[in-house]
Amino acid sequence: MVRYIRWMAITSLVIYLSGASSDFAIAKISSDYGQIKAINISHRGASGHAPEHTLQAYELGNVMNGDYIEVDLQMTKDGELIALHDETIDRTTEKKGLVKNLTLKEIKKIDAGSWFNEAFPKKMSTEYSGLQIPTLREVLDRFSPDSKFFIETKSPEVYPGMEEKLISILNEYNLTGAHHTFGNVVVQSFSVESLKKVHQLDESIPLVQLLSYYAPAVITDTEVSKIKEYAVGVGLHYTAVSPGYIKKVTDSGLMVFPYTVNEKEDMDMLLDWGATGMFTNYPDRLDEVIQSRTSKEP
Ligand code: G3P
Ligand code: CA
Repeated sequence: MVRYIRWMAITSLVIYLSGASSDFAIAKISSDYGQIKAINISHRGASGHAPEHTLQAYELGNVMNGDYIEVDLQMTKDGELIALHDETIDRTTEKKGLVKNLTLKEIKKIDAGSWFNEAFPKKMSTEYSGLQIPTLREVLDRFSPDSKFFIETKSPEVYPGMEEKLISILNEYNLTGAHHTFGNVVVQSFSVESLKKVHQLDESIPLVQLLSYYAPAVITDTEVSKIKEYAVGVGLHYTAVSPGYIKKVTDSGLMVFPYTVNEKEDMDMLLDWGATGMFTNYPDRLDEVIQSRTSKEP
């Protein structure tokens, strides 16, 4: 039953994202989707359990029933897109430096897993030592077409040509235009310009506008209308969210994806408030919350 509901939920999202959406589909997502059919996004993979943005973390996200793998993008000196959150390699490797100053060959020599074992000894695994930073192509080689992706253009102002490269790679993997299953790739960014550029290159890709707020978040009708011109949803820090904010945004037909929600109590509360889904470092916890809510359904 849970599987069926999950399947129905994803199908509804795909229909909605396909552009073949109707008021019915939008209403379904905005009203009852958040109650029992939340979208589970593995934030940087299951990054509470394994080193973020490694193939192991992504794999674990899938094993833990994440619906989407979240991939942050940076671009190397020689123009390759890699999965990494920071503009530097300092925090998540044993080396230091800006990604934009390093070639892919240099990036590939770096250990992106040992830091996790040192930072989280209780979760350490010998398998994590020596893990590489994956390229976007490597991620897609491993997980497409079976997985779905929330891809973020990070610091697009630092990386001219990032959007063109992204669309070109998505094209290679038949993840754009008429070829792909709509909703399998969502592009997200804090940059309005970057999202609009993605749509100039390929209008078929659903976009999520990430927003920065000092809590509590407030959004005007004009802002909602402007975002609706190009995006299907918004993402914002979960501590800034209020029930009124979610209601206003979802009533407009936009989806709401709070980040990064790691405690079950918060997950449950956000679903009560009508969040469409959320980013979490613990997709296993969110899955348990979703399943528990589903089992309580009459
Ligand atoms: O993409 C949603 C969320 O990941 C944004 O924050 O800093 O973790 O990329 P950050
Ligand atoms: Ca992100």
